[in-house]
Amino acid sequence: MTERIFSGVQPTGNLHLGNYLGAIRNWVALQNDFECLFCVVDLHAITVWQDPAKLRSSTREVAAAMIAAGIDPKKHIIFNQSQVPGHAELAWIFNCVARMGWLGRMTQFKEKAGKDRENASVGLFAYPNLMAADILLYKGTHVPVGEDQKQHLELARDIAHKFNNDFKTETFPIPEPLILGTATRVMSLKDGTAKMSKSDPSDLSRINMTDDADTIARKIRKAKTDPDLLPDNRAGLDARPEARNLIGIYAALADTTVDAAVEEFAGQQFSALKERLSEVAVANLSPIQDEYRRLLDDKATIDDVLADGAERACALSEPVLREVHDVIGFLRPKRKRG
Ligand code: TYM
Repeated sequence: MTERIFSGVQPTGNLHLGNYLGAIRNWVALQNDFECLFCVVDLHAITVWQDPAKLRSSTREVAAAMIAAGIDPKKHIIFNQSQVPGHAELAWIFNCVARMGWLGRMTQFKEKAGKDRENASVGLFAYPNLMAADILLYKGTHVPVGEDQKQHLELARDIAHKFNNDFKTETFPIPEPLILGTATRVMSLKDGTAKMSKSDPSDLSRINMTDDADTIARKIRKAKTDPDLLPDNRAGLDARPEARNLIGIYAALADTTVDAAVEEFAGQQFSALKERLSEVAVANLSPIQDEYRRLLDDKATIDDVLADGAERACALSEPVLREVHDVIGFLRPKRKRG
């Protein structure tokens, strides 16, 4: 079976350092060894309210960020989900495969719906079925994501298994999560126990991919710390979420190990780490940001990439959908001619 990567990002606001280190940077490395599809998941975005004009601009921005980070849209496929109808169709089929109980256990639904579950959209509940459809519509075998998507990936595997078992078929591969690197869960700069997230109301909690050098330095300077000096061994990070987060981000950006980063700052003040972290963050992000800004001034190029990607993704999805229809028993009636 062809090894095929599928992954996605929601166009719901600013991309941040967590998205980059947990996902996009790894995709850039994987594109040499795999055939890849990278998707701007606009159907997922509308599980919560989106302003239409903002959704359109965020979709272009995420596509631009993928290209600026180094994904080659000629070799690989970059597209937005709504342009390939098979995603919604296979998601419906998976709505009939997945069980209510499986979805009820998803921690992300519980977090996002909060106390007012009765008022959450049905789409928010069924969200992981659409995610399984994204991957399996192309028989995706590997899925590079940050740690927060692990539970959704397990559900996608369960769906693939159940579909294959129910219909006594081997239609779907069981997709493997690829949770790579040292920054699989980047935490908020304001609270080392909360995930860095697009939806955190405080902009100081995250480094956005669009932040300029001064903003990055200011946010890192203001990042929460604790009163102690930095530890001289990795175990010393255990009960110190802020130190662990900043060291982890530094290690990822400086392309070193956590152990080496701990050694580099052993016994020093947070300010020394923060200064170096600002330097490596700016050095990593500024070339991407230059390219990103250039692309955003050239919307026609982004739209061409997305249109071309959607066409190629449709072509890949069609035989899979046909196979699924036949397996399920959907009749494909043919007209009698003459
Ligand atoms: P999304 O848009 O929330 O995030 C995109 C990617 O960024 C990773 N990520 C992080 N990694 C490390 N630390 C963080 N703080 C952090 N925040 C986000 C996510 O793990 C993800 O890899 N449901 C998905 C999108 C999706 C998808 C798919 C992914 C839809 N269909 C199919 C893979 C395969 C999501 O909401 O990601």
